[in-house]
Amino acid sequence: MDTDFYRIKRLPPYVIAEVNAMRAAARAAGEDIIDLGMGNPDLPPPPHVIEKLCEVAKKPDAHGYSASKGIPGLRRAQAGYYARRFGVELDPEREVVVTLGSKEGLANLAQAITAPGDVVLAPNPSYPIHTFGFIIAGATIRSVPTTPDERYFESLERAVKFTVPKPSVLVMGYPSNPTAEVVDLAFYERVVAFAKEHELWILSDLAYSEIYFDDCPTPSILQVPGAKDVAVEFTSMSKTYSMAGWRMGFAVGNPTLIAALTRVKSYLDYGAFTPIQAAAVAAINGPQDIVDANRRLYKHRRDVLVESFGRAGWEIPAPRASMFAWAPLPPALAHLGSLEFSKQLLTHAGVAVAPGVGYGEEGEGFVRIAMVENEQRIRQAARNVKRYLASMGVNTPAQTSA
Ligand SMILES: Cc1ncc(COP(=O)(O)O)c(C=O)c1O
Repeated sequence: MDTDFYRIKRLPPYVIAEVNAMRAAARAAGEDIIDLGMGNPDLPPPPHVIEKLCEVAKKPDAHGYSASKGIPGLRRAQAGYYARRFGVELDPEREVVVTLGSKEGLANLAQAITAPGDVVLAPNPSYPIHTFGFIIAGATIRSVPTTPDERYFESLERAVKFTVPKPSVLVMGYPSNPTAEVVDLAFYERVVAFAKEHELWILSDLAYSEIYFDDCPTPSILQVPGAKDVAVEFTSMSKTYSMAGWRMGFAVGNPTLIAALTRVKSYLDYGAFTPIQAAAVAAINGPQDIVDANRRLYKHRRDVLVESFGRAGWEIPAPRASMFAWAPLPPALAHLGSLEFSKQLLTHAGVAVAPGVGYGEEGEGFVRIAMVENEQRIRQAARNVKRYLASMGVNTPAQTSA
């Protein structure tokens, strides 16, 4: 029997899973692990959303198969969000589809639009589904940088000039997971113009639309006039409303891509449990004070993380958005590499982080730190890290200047 499965061969063991397995084993052994590894929000969803879930779940007619593309009220709610937040008009019938989390939407859109051998441009480092969604679908990935500077556009130019067949899709996600880099509307304008010139579809992942720390809110690529001709954008309830386990997200934008995703989904799923969709409507249309409060809370955690880890001897650039800090390894320990460094942090400091190499080869030299524990735990992590760094001969700033 052939066990050399074509797709499985193309999926390397998940690097981050190695650290996750170590963390689980340490916890099972009774150790207190401060988990800054996974981007799993520790905050509760808004109470009125949970109430709506329970209310609808009590209805006897709410338990059958739901609508694969999402109930109409939820698609209208998401269109309303885009109108309010970005000034973007969407047709809830043709330009919005509800997904079982944005990850599912990204993967199934990749399946829908990719032929084996297609070339897809994706950032390195990136959130794994940005590349593996397409690899599973049989595409070849050509990496482009994640940092949205001049080098990014030079790399796009080279890609369309030298790749055969010509790239068909450009994937991007800002605020970036893992690097937390952000972009402005001028960047999106350039990208849309480029995509139109070179006939590329754009898939934009806006999972962190509401978690930004500057005064200027995160833009949507669909704010660029005409972007809908070439782009779809994914958003998620996971981070905005701390509903990661509910598996609720959206794709909106270009009607051809939305129709393609909707078609594939119609063969694969019956839509999310109706009470979840009804509760998602309550989240989007209801009071947004918890979203504002959580944004302030993540910003405060960001400040605590940067300050306390800095005092521990580990300089971490302050992220401007997302739930993550993208931290270069302390220079004295850079030779360990991100995987070994992450393992040592877990074993010797009781702190779980995600090794940068798990997000692509360009992620080597970094770890991703998720701000998903409270202030006290972040400070405790910094104290543990300080002890570990000292044991490795890395001095804190105070010791260095003394
Ligand atoms: C950039 C990015 N896209 C998508 C996702 C997945 O979101 P969802 O829970 O909606 O599938 C994540 C989750 O961490 C993410 O960071």
